[in-house]
Amino acid sequence: MLTIFETIEKIAIKIDHAIKTEDLGYSDTENTSGEDQLKLDVKSDYIVEEAFKNVSIVKALVSEEKEGVLALHDEGKYTICYDPLDGSSLADVNLSVGSIFGIYEGELKAENLVASAYVVYGPRIELVTATRDAKPKHYRAQEGLFNFISEISLDEKGKLNAPGGTQQNWSKVHKTFVDGLFAEGYRLRYSGGMVPDLHQILLKGGGIFSYPGTSDKPNGKLRQLFEVIPFAFMYEQAGGQAISNEGVRLMELIPAHPHDTSPCFFGSNYEINKLKEAYGMKV
Ligand code: AHG
Ligand code: MN
Ligand code: MN
Ligand code: MN
Repeated sequence: MLTIFETIEKIAIKIDHAIKTEDLGYSDTENTSGEDQLKLDVKSDYIVEEAFKNVSIVKALVSEEKEGVLALHDEGKYTICYDPLDGSSLADVNLSVGSIFGIYEGELKAENLVASAYVVYGPRIELVTATRDAKPKHYRAQEGLFNFISEISLDEKGKLNAPGGTQQNWSKVHKTFVDGLFAEGYRLRYSGGMVPDLHQILLKGGGIFSYPGTSDKPNGKLRQLFEVIPFAFMYEQAGGQAISNEGVRLMELIPAHPHDTSPCFFGSNYEINKLKEAYGMKV
């Protein structure tokens, strides 16, 4: 896995430079999810693709910004599903954005995820990696080199609440649940960028991030292979939980198509169990 994580470190430095120097405008194309692509989305995707072309253990790539699967090395072992620049529309208001990587072996489904990683481009460049045998590892870049900071563990109960999706399109059950957390004194922490929003909860002891199914997006907005599953793995490895609106572990998802989405809830045990009760799921 080292080669892949080392490659992600190089990608992170290059994408951070692109964010700081390239044009923040829109390209004239859209991606498979029907989103207008920023020039930065396209450039970041190019940086990732070029980097993994030199890593022979990478069999193929799936990207938020590509239609299908891009074959790289026949003799490769892993398929990397990635979001080259998440929350990209926040870059032009100078908010933190990120990159997300899911590393799969075999069929593209959650149980075949062997590792995940994400990068946060903010006041500093930070990287978190997770493998099946350990807690997530947190690194920070200094002069272009990543230094290990600590392992990440979620407390049983947190203080932060990151409620995604358009509020007027939430179900009554979800609205009651979210309002109940605020009544308990939880603090609202939602920037619209899932990477910094989920990173903050992981580092600040816990809470819950939710992007439910809504009346306008019944299957949610976040893509399974390169947004939902990589973070579900992170949260479970950190001692928390990650479930869908049916109370199913997100680590059991089997996407039918590379860009399939899923309602998703990531958090500490107390908050996820509270959500299960509110939704009438088995705790
Ligand atoms: P991307 O920029 O890669 O398309 O993803 C953006 C996602 C994610 O970062 C965030 O959680 C979500 O969009 C926010 O959606 P809303 O604007 O609907 O809250
Ligand atoms: Mn997008
Ligand atoms: Mn994204
Ligand atoms: Mn993106």
